[in-house]
This record gives sequence, structure tokens and C-alpha cells, in this order.
Amino acid sequence: MTTISFIGSGRIGGALARLAVAAGHDVVLSNSRGPQSLRETVTRLGSRAHAASSTEAAAAGDLVVVTVPIRAYRQVPVEPLRGRVVIDTLNYDPARQGTVPEIEAGTVPPHLLLQAHLPDAYVVKAFSTVFFRHLPQLARQAGAPDRSAVPVAGDHAAAKATVAALIDSLGFDAYDVGPLAESHRFAPGTPAQLAYLDPDGMFTAPARPATAADLAALLDRVTRP
Ligand SMILES: NC(=O)c1ccc[n+]([C@@H]2O[C@H](COP(=O)([O-])OP(=O)(O)OC[C@H]3O[C@@H](n4cnc5c(N)ncnc54)[C@H](OP(=O)(O)O)[C@@H]3O)[C@@H](O)[C@H]2O)c1
Repeated sequence: MTTISFIGSGRIGGALARLAVAAGHDVVLSNSRGPQSLRETVTRLGSRAHAASSTEAAAAGDLVVVTVPIRAYRQVPVEPLRGRVVIDTLNYDPARQGTVPEIEAGTVPPHLLLQAHLPDAYVVKAFSTVFFRHLPQLARQAGAPDRSAVPVAGDHAAAKATVAALIDSLGFDAYDVGPLAESHRFAPGTPAQLAYLDPDGMFTAPARPATAADLAALLDRVTRP
């Protein structure tokens, strides 16, 4: 049993928290409006769930999932995340979520933004490719032939192993894409982002499982920029 904290408890954070509670983990949720606004969500999740401020959540988790709109990345607390394993779900979608000046200026690419903000955290990119409604549809017991793999990337082997164990407990295989810099291979606009969509690319259709082999073929279609 692990305590998973969430900085951001919206669509993807909420879906991951439900899977985590179902897997027997404790969760600590936070958002921008404060713990009071999460009362109903926490009640629905049951006794394993608690709400806190972002700073408290950051300090409480064995693992911390940062899952805010990317434009809010500067509000992610730095100090309590020093030396912590952080899962980064963030995608850069300026049309829908607004622009980030540093990214537009080319100072830092979107897939490295959170690690640049949290230089002393062990950031692992994961779950950035799964549409939130598809998460519960795709989760499977270990060994199921149609168990989906999710790509992970990070610069610290131990942190990636910790995240892979969490991913396994949530019903997925972790597929190691390499260092964080390689996560551009599953960024928005790449074939791997569409891995679990039906052939017409419809988000409203049921998710299509993608195994590690499926994912490898999609990732191979992207090389270094
Ligand atoms: N939606 C998906 O299927 C999906 C899939 C993969 C990756 N992603 C990525 O994951 C991230 C989250 O996406 P989402 O769709 O879950 O977003 P969302 O539904 O809009 O939820 C965002 C959450 O972040 C919180 N938040 C915003 N600013 C914050 C701050 N300064 N401090 C703490 N919490 C803050 C929001 O709290 P309030 O409501 O209180 O403001 C909300 O709980 C995005 O970067 C997105 O690109 C999304």
C-alpha cells in the first residue's frame, strides 16, 4: 500500500485516483480551490481518500502525480517535492489550454517543463497518453493478453521502477521509452498518443487496448527531432 498524492484532481487526476483507491492505495487530492471543494469527491472515493492543500499533498505522498493544466505549472510547489518521485501527466495543447511563454519562446520544450521547474525531483512522464475516460476501460489484471502498456520516460532508474510498480498495480504494463528527453516520442501529435483510440480516432468510442508490442511499433515511427 502506497500513498499517492495528486496536485490537480480533475479529469485525469480523478480517474487515476479512482483506480488507485480500487487497487488499495491511499490518495491525497488537491486542486487550486482548496480542500473544501474536494469534499464530495473524497466522500465518493471512500475512507482511503483525503483532501489537502497542494503543499500538504506534495509532502504526504510516497509518489506525487502532477496533473494540472500546463499553464499552471509554476504553482506546483517546489520545496516539498525535492527528492520525491513525481509523475508528470502534462501535455502542451495551446489551442485548448492556452500558451506557456517559455515554451513558445523555445526556452524549454513542453515535455521537459515540469522537470525544469522541479530540478531536484525525480520526474517520470506517464499517463500523458491515455484519455481519462479510457483509463478504467483499459485496466486489466497482470498477465491478461489484452493488458495495455503505457509509455514512461525519466532520467532516474529507481524512480521509474517505483512508477512502474504503481502502474502495474493500477492495471497496466509500463513501457520504458528511456530518459525524459525521449518522451517527445509520445507527446501530443505523435502516433503513440492515439494508441488506445479506435481506428477512426474517436475519443467517444470505447478504448482499444494497446500492448507493449503495439506501443513499440507506434513509438518507432518517431525519431529525434
Ligand atoms: N484529460 C485527459 O484525458 C488527459 C489525458 C492525458 C494527459 N492530460 C494532461 O493532464 C493534465 C490535467 O488534465 P485534466 O484534463 O485532468 O485537467 P482538468 O480536468 O482541467 O483538471 C485540472 C486540475 O488541476 C487543478 N489545478 C489547476 N491549477 C492548479 C494549481 N495551481 N494548483 C493545484 N491544482 C491546480 C484543477 O483544480 P481546480 O478545478 O480547483 O482549478 C483541477 O483539479 C493536463 O496537463 C493535460 O494536458 C489530460
